[in-house]
Amino acid sequence: MALRFDENDVKKLEEIRAKYPNNQACTLPFLHYAQDKFGYVSMDVIKLVAQTLNLPVAHVLSVATFYTMYNKKPVGKYHLQVCTNISCSLLGARRLVDKLQELLGIKPGETTEDGMFTLTEVECLGSCGTAPVIQVNDKYFENLDEKKVEELIESLRKGELDV
Ligand code: FES
Repeated sequence: MALRFDENDVKKLEEIRAKYPNNQACTLPFLHYAQDKFGYVSMDVIKLVAQTLNLPVAHVLSVATFYTMYNKKPVGKYHLQVCTNISCSLLGARRLVDKLQELLGIKPGETTEDGMFTLTEVECLGSCGTAPVIQVNDKYFENLDEKKVEELIESLRKGELDV
């Protein structure tokens, strides 16, 4: 069955659209909404957003592929996005990536077999003053070190964190 936005989605998307000057400017928030709803931004999602905004598919595709925040394939329950840009790197982001690889048994770009965790390296998360930073789903975890990362994974495994 083709993807669609239901009545509730349409209402919410209209609320978003009202905040922007034109349909083109809605591309990012509509893609965000669609990602939340469908889990990731597939080609079908891109076509749906383009159709909803009455914009060329090529435009929506170019936006979706430019920004790393849009997942082009399914991700795990917890999407761990490790910033490896300059401030975070200087303060140990690489060690955090190594630690996560050791704890989860996956490399960046991969998802654990149980579907719990996806590990991704990303560009600056805009929180350089609290580097190194990891974004888990929508929540930031800052001033991290290897011990804190281990505790973070443990808490996520136990379902103790609301992310
Ligand atoms: S460099 Fe990591 S948040 Fe900016």
